[in-house]
Amino acid sequence: MIRKITEEELLAQQAYVRAFRHLPGRPETYHIVTYGCQMNAHDSEKLAGMLEAMGMTAAPTREEADFVLHNTCCIRDNAERKALGNVTWLKEIKKIRPSLLIGVCGCMVQEKGMAEKILNQYPFIDLAFGTGNQYKLPELLYRAAEKRERVVAVEEEQSTLAEGLPIRRESPWQAYVTIMYGCNNFCTYCIVPYVRGRERSREPGDILREVEQLVRDGTKEIMLLGQNVNSYGRELAGGWTFAKLLREAAKTGIPRIRFMTSHPKDLTDELIETIAQTPSVQRHFHLPAQSGSDRILKAMNRHYTAEKYLDRAEALRAAVPDIGLTTDLIVGFPGETEADFEDTLALVEKVDYDSAFTFIYSPRVGTPAASLPDQIPPEVSAERIDRLIKAQEQHTEKRLNALIGTRQEVLVTDFSRRDETMMTGKCGRNISINFRGTKADIGRILPVRVVSAGRTTLRGEKEIQEASHE
Ligand code: SAH
Ligand code: SF4
Ligand code: F3S
Repeated sequence: MIRKITEEELLAQQAYVRAFRHLPGRPETYHIVTYGCQMNAHDSEKLAGMLEAMGMTAAPTREEADFVLHNTCCIRDNAERKALGNVTWLKEIKKIRPSLLIGVCGCMVQEKGMAEKILNQYPFIDLAFGTGNQYKLPELLYRAAEKRERVVAVEEEQSTLAEGLPIRRESPWQAYVTIMYGCNNFCTYCIVPYVRGRERSREPGDILREVEQLVRDGTKEIMLLGQNVNSYGRELAGGWTFAKLLREAAKTGIPRIRFMTSHPKDLTDELIETIAQTPSVQRHFHLPAQSGSDRILKAMNRHYTAEKYLDRAEALRAAVPDIGLTTDLIVGFPGETEADFEDTLALVEKVDYDSAFTFIYSPRVGTPAASLPDQIPPEVSAERIDRLIKAQEQHTEKRLNALIGTRQEVLVTDFSRRDETMMTGKCGRNISINFRGTKADIGRILPVRVVSAGRTTLRGEKEIQEASHE
């Protein structure tokens, strides 16, 4: 059952917020280190929002902060190792500065057995809480700071939805908007359903009110977030689909809409039509394929074949010819033969992606694939991923070069990293474009003509604006 946090629960947390502000000798500054996907990045914005409400200010580095919070990811082994390594490093700082409070939260904490491991093996961690307890941060931090006792809170039940929390957004121009939490798909390699719980859709009214507020605040682009946005609304009354939500979101007048992530099995014609008919939905579609082998896709529990996937990709291209497709691919899934891998290469050739995220399969404890026989030796996976990356690079080069001479709308977000006279932003296809400009361009959507292509980014020239594109 899904349950929204009640008014009383919200008030209880607000009481801790006030009490914390008056706590003598309390931590004054915080620093959040974020790992993992956009969900986690957005969770960190919510955590920061709560910490600011508690009277704390952001410290630019971990070394300067009174409270360091690690928002962790456990999707692959290396993500987990990185987080634990960094937490352990803080132990040394704590020896010099015993008042330092160390916290961990996020997906890793929610893993089975992790709470005990933290208690036993990482005694210098003061505060640990799972993805289902985030809204209780004021209370948990108050307890850790007041009594200097260790606080570990991991809720088994993740059916709680918290609305109405403050959010400290990283960017004034771009905003994440969660539309659903959790995942029901149980791909056999994936830990997300175990650490993020079952699928829960937010009420459309709550989502649209948030988007309307963002429009009033001057936000230019929203990214609607969910592990499988295509199944949005299934458990809601009123016949809500993701396509319908997109149409309603577009009516708010938000200039640009993006979304992440789509599962190919649930990609409907209704959604494709909606994208084609809604100009504010950007011309980029991330459609994780994972593999091009039907045998492996079945073992992954993905519920589609390579042919079905290609059919969806073609339907997208037919309806929206200028759309850029990107994907996620895994190599070295248990039992993957050379022939299976070649099917993945063949898929990459056929789809002609703008870019692809490629991963070596990482066994996750508790997932079905981890106990499958025939795990692939690391050197075989390493060789395959090299070949896959090289194959995709050719397509990226081709797709980027084909954009030379076109006019792209760029949401300017920053100076270019290498050159202070150059500005950077992304076009609708989600590709970075650098062009000569000034600080005044930041936060605006500008027409830019593409003049050349690098390996992963484009170079452009600002076009003279005849009319305002704001
Ligand atoms: N819900 C999204 C994203 C999930 S995580 C989706 O279904 O696409 C992002 C990517 O990480 C996945 O698409 C997958 O390619 C990869 N991934 C997930 N679990 C993995 C594992 N155990 N080993 C390697 N890659 C994994
Ligand atoms: Fe993981 Fe599959 Fe759910 Fe994506 S759809 S989060 S890969 S279980
Ligand atoms: Fe990682 Fe959790 Fe996202 S495991 S990829 S941070 S949902």
